[in-house]
Amino acid sequence: MKKIIIAIDGFSSTGKSTLAKELAKKLKYVYVDTGAMYRAVTLYAMERNFINEKGFKIDLLVADLDKINLHFIFKKWKGFAEMYLNDINVEKEIRTLEVSQYVSQVSEISEVRSKLVEQQKLMGVKKGIVMDGRDIGTVVFPNAEIKFYMTASADKRALRRYKELIDRGDDVTYERVLKNVKSRDYIDSTRLDSPLIKAQDAIEFDNSDMGLEEQFERIYNLVLRYV
Ligand code: DC
Repeated sequence: MKKIIIAIDGFSSTGKSTLAKELAKKLKYVYVDTGAMYRAVTLYAMERNFINEKGFKIDLLVADLDKINLHFIFKKWKGFAEMYLNDINVEKEIRTLEVSQYVSQVSEISEVRSKLVEQQKLMGVKKGIVMDGRDIGTVVFPNAEIKFYMTASADKRALRRYKELIDRGDDVTYERVLKNVKSRDYIDSTRLDSPLIKAQDAIEFDNSDMGLEEQFERIYNLVLRYV
């Protein structure tokens, strides 16, 4: 089988990671969740009070970028790789609503983006990779063999995210999650550097009313044409 690059972009909570994980498992590919990398940088900034409700000290974060070491370690029993920030597993900490509230502001910073994009490009050198994010098909792998662009209504996405957070035991309201989803949609798609846009050659999937199994079947059949 030929090894290819599969790029999956789209708004938050469109099921990109579930789909990417399943594809990677089926094809025995590496799965990379680039959102986790932006979330880990955000956590670093929050821990040092570079970003909080009072503001964002961009210069301090940019000056510290060399000190931020990110890597993934594959957990066989979980079937995916977990995020490590300076050798500490932060997989749980990066998924809170607090991190979600700041991550779009951190993702707007060009210096942050170039550091992460460079690392992401290296991960794809050997191909055999499924990567999800916002700029994978447009910036990280513009030559990816196949690109998907996932969408769904904001209400459906907020409900999915709300259920995930409640299942984890987080104390959140649906209204707060919906507000966060909408504000991230806005910042992610209007920022100057690498905004979330559909790559010209991406295949669009609106999964507002599509079950996971049906979606996976359709996408997997498309992928099979390229491998
Ligand atoms: O996929 P996610 O919701 O975990 O991503 C968190 C944030 O990170 C998202 O709101 C925007 C940013 N992001 C980005 O700017 N570029 C990427 N390739 C991936 C994520």
